[in-house]
Formats: sequence, C-alpha cells, structure tokens
Amino acid sequence: MKVLVIGSGGREHTIVWKLNQSKRVTKIYCAPGNGGIAQLAECVPIKVMEFDKLVDFAKENKIDMVVVAPDDPLAAGAVDAFEAEGIRAFGPNKAAAIIEGSKAFSKNLMKKYNIPTADYEVFDNSADAVAYIERQNKFPIVIKADGLALGKGVIIAENFADAKKAVSDIMDDKVFGAAGGKVVIEEFLTGPEISVLAFTDGKTLKPMVSAQDHKRALDNDKGLNTGGMGTFSPSRIYTPELEDECMKNIFIPTMEAMNAEGRTFKGVLYFGLMKTADGVKVIEYNCRFGDPETQVVLPRLESDLYDIFDAVIDERLSDIEIKWNNGAAVCVVLASGGYPQKYKTGYEIDGICKAESMGALVFHAGTKYENGKILTAGGRVLGVTALGTDLDTAIKNAYDYVKLINFTDMHYRKDIGIKKNI
Ligand code: AMP
Ligand code: GLY
Repeated sequence: MKVLVIGSGGREHTIVWKLNQSKRVTKIYCAPGNGGIAQLAECVPIKVMEFDKLVDFAKENKIDMVVVAPDDPLAAGAVDAFEAEGIRAFGPNKAAAIIEGSKAFSKNLMKKYNIPTADYEVFDNSADAVAYIERQNKFPIVIKADGLALGKGVIIAENFADAKKAVSDIMDDKVFGAAGGKVVIEEFLTGPEISVLAFTDGKTLKPMVSAQDHKRALDNDKGLNTGGMGTFSPSRIYTPELEDECMKNIFIPTMEAMNAEGRTFKGVLYFGLMKTADGVKVIEYNCRFGDPETQVVLPRLESDLYDIFDAVIDERLSDIEIKWNNGAAVCVVLASGGYPQKYKTGYEIDGICKAESMGALVFHAGTKYENGKILTAGGRVLGVTALGTDLDTAIKNAYDYVKLINFTDMHYRKDIGIKKNI
C-alpha cells in the first residue's frame, strides 16, 4: 500500500515512523515533510493547503491512503477534496472538523448534549463581550478566539483591563485574523490537564493511552505558552475509574452528538480534559492527533497503525483489537533558544545518531537536511522520546538521550513528567 501523509512536524514524523512498521505499507510519501521524515519517506514539496496539487499527486502516484494530520487542512476540507476524487483519506471531513475549527460550535455542542465543560457565552461583537465581562466581574476569565489561531487564541485575563484588551485585540484588531469573528468568554477552571486521543469511526470509539503536555516554555510552568515543550504517557492521575467516567460522560456522548448533528466524526478525536473538583470537564476538542502527544502515544502502540486507519475509513473499528504497551513514554522537546518568540535557525545538530543508537526515538519537528547535515529550521526542533517500564525510567532515559544531542542555542525543559501530583 502506498500512503501519503500530509504535514511537516514531529507529529507527522511519528505517524510516518509508525506506518513504516506496517507490513502492508510499501511506500510512504510526505507533503511537505521535514529533515527527519525524509529518512523514512519521500518528501514532496507541496504545501498542506494546496489541495489541487495534493489530489493530483495522489492520483498520479496511485496512493492507496492519504492521512491528513494538521488542523488547517482538515478544517478547510482536505478529506472532502480527496474523497470527491475517490481517494481514501483518514481524518474528519470539513463538517466534522468544525469541532476544532469553531470553539463557538464546540461549546454549543457540549451545552446542547450535556457534556461537562466550563460555563461560557459566545459574542459576535466586542461591546457585548466587554459588557458581559464587566457584569461577571470575576477574574481570571478566559477569552477564546472562535477559529483556528495556531494554538495562540486563548487568553487568560487576570483583570478587567487585560480582558478588555484581549477582546479588542481579537475582535477589533483581528490579531488572529478571521478566527476572531466571534469570541467565547468562559469561566476559569483549575485542575490538572490530561490529553486523551481516541480513534473513532462514528460507530465505535477507542481511546488511546493518556498523555499530559507541558505548554509553558520554562521549567515549573513559567514563561510563555508554546505549542508544547514535552509530554509523557500515561498520565498519573488518569485512573481506570476516571477513564470510565470520561467514556460515559464525555467520549461516547461527543461521538453521538456529532452523529445527531449530521456531522459524523471519523478520525482521531482529541479530548483536552481538566480534572476539576467538580469532575472532569472538556477544555477543548481537536480534530486530529496532538503534537507533541503523538510522540509519546504512538510509540506505545503495538498494533498496526495502517490497519487502524483502514478500519476507521471503512467503519469497522469495532472489529479490530488495538494493543498498547504497559510501560511509559516521555518526550522532551528541544527548541531553538528564544522560542516561542524570536530565534535563529540554520545551526547544525549533533548527536542524533548517537542518541538513536542508545534507544532514543528522535522525531524531527523543525529541521532540514542539507549537504548531508541536519540543520535547525524551526522553533521546536526535535522531540526526543524515550520508552521505559515506568515513568521514572522513561524520564531518566529521555534526559540521558538529550545529553547526547546538541546545537547552538538549544533550549529544553528539565522537568518534563517530573511533577508527581499532576
Ligand atoms: P487551548 O488552546 O484551547 O488548548 O487552551 C490553551 C490552554 O488554556 C489550555 O491547555 C488550558 O491550560 C488553558 N485554558 C483553556 N480554557 C481554560 C479554562 N476555562 N480555564 C482554565 N484554563 C483554561
Ligand atoms: N498539544 C496540543 C495540540 O496538539 O493542540
């Protein structure tokens, strides 16, 4: 089988790495891919939003399955574009991807179907939004741009002035572009966060092993929000009892709600959860694999990923067994110094082969391959994943591997997975 994976980050590298282990997969293409993916797949210089070119490529190369990984092309209907030409594609169609593409949609869905989430209101003009914040007069308060905003569309405002500025930035100054046509204003919740990704074909839903992300740039959750500085799996607080609660109150009701809305979701549904004093609540949905959650979840998958994708597309997920290893995985992201703000790229990376020879899984996020060298090419550069029989072993292994890798201005968090109470 010939597979085309769409995307270029650490998540896509992990998907390609796992598909490469499938007995059924003979050739993998990746558009546009990166320096690490190029070692396993043929990278094709087509951007993720160039649907016509991607469809032509898939037709010309007789691709058996396309895997659309990032949010932007999913929300814009990439899967629909392939299916219209009779090409099998893994991922939700446009109607279903709205669960991530519009926070107003997802909040209203949760309210309508009694799925636990933070209290909220949606506004389509800034004056009403600000008046509401003033009436609530409760801080912090959470302000979210409705649409996709590269993971930056959520602002936690500590006081009225900051909240008013956030609304004005999003709605009047359009700092997130069209994503700011509406805002969701939501109560601030507290508690540890858990990410659970699930395969679903609209009839059956099978959760993957749990994970936790570290979003802030610096140790002890200090510094700016990032795309994710590291992950571990499993979450220490996600007990079987909690999983049962989530299945019953959140996962299955979400799948059924999407069916009831005529928006059957097929693909990976990502539940961003918070364990509050009042039970587990949904913080956000994503319509895809998480990044960098995928870098710790798929290495624990023992089953064939192609078979799972195939079963989801054919709506026979109930027929297959999905096996996970009982150990743990930790991913430490190595970033360019300065990320998520200004940083320099083009530095040579040393030590990847050495780390791999010791057992590291090195997933490339922002790299390029030039004249036989791997160079930094983005904010998040590498995700170094280690497996272990338990979390403590996996953490130790991950940091042992990280010590072997080096590039100018390299920055990483030293506390991934360490906090025991979350
Ligand atoms: P998102 O981009 O939706 O993942 O949100 C980014 C982060 O903002 C989440 O991971 C949470 O840490 C935080 N967040 C979002 N909504 C809330 C909320 N209602 N209360 C507290 N924190 C929140
Ligand atoms: N790790 C969060 C995300 O993929 O959106």
